[in-house]
Amino acid sequence: MFGFKPKRRKPQTVIADDRLRHVAFIMDGNGRWAKKQGMPREYGHKAGAETFRRITGYCKDIGIKIITVYAFSTENWKRPKNEVDTIMSLLLMYIEEAIRDADINRIRFIFIGNRSFFSRTIQTQMNKLEAVTVKYNNDYILNMAINYGGRDDIVHAVNSLIASGAKSVTEDDISANLYTSHTPPPDLIIRTANERRLSNFLLWQAAYSELYFTDTLWPDLTDRDIDKAVADFYARKRRYGGI
Ligand code: IPE
Ligand code: IPE
Ligand code: MG
Repeated sequence: MFGFKPKRRKPQTVIADDRLRHVAFIMDGNGRWAKKQGMPREYGHKAGAETFRRITGYCKDIGIKIITVYAFSTENWKRPKNEVDTIMSLLLMYIEEAIRDADINRIRFIFIGNRSFFSRTIQTQMNKLEAVTVKYNNDYILNMAINYGGRDDIVHAVNSLIASGAKSVTEDDISANLYTSHTPPPDLIIRTANERRLSNFLLWQAAYSELYFTDTLWPDLTDRDIDKAVADFYARKRRYGGI
């Protein structure tokens, strides 16, 4: 009643440390989110792109040094042309914005996946974004998986080794030739939208990653959901096969 002031809830923000250097996201549920509002799937991808900006910003704020996002898989070309075109145009818009804001964001961008499938314009802008942000390597890294497949990653690595004359390969050789060779494997993989599978994401790298699944659809994901996932991660014990 009078004079009653609701208590301000303290945000449960957890600050990431060396145990949680690398977080990867399977950003799923854009289509279902749009459907729920009676809108076309493309609308969900636009909302998803906004969530991507917000969530990557939040992860950086809480000290996560390396973020990898699954934005487009080698299998996503199966989707209707309209939908693929929308995703490509959102991608181009985002890359151009990231080039403009490179010195504000201080994030190194790296594209992982087979980029030869993309239009010349997109490829040029991808290369440009990587080139203008390479100097931020020691601050933050954002890997964007586009036309990425875990199987393709391994095949690509093995073919690079064969091309360099290898007759047989070791685990270290493969790790060193993956698209992600510049980063440690993900400590935590978060998948939204109530699916519990990897869908060909980081198959090799995920060998000992912690997995976190939430029912929340990607466009609805909030900073508090990240706090929850991070708290859940810190409550786990990673054994790597030991005791
Ligand atoms: C994830 O959302 C975005 C991409 C795969 C590009 P979806 O488009 O897969 O959304 P749902 O799973 O159909 O809801
Ligand atoms: C995985 O989501 C790919 C991305 C998030 C980019 P999908 O929606 O393509 O995965 P499936 O088809 O449900 O396994
Ligand atoms: Mg999906």
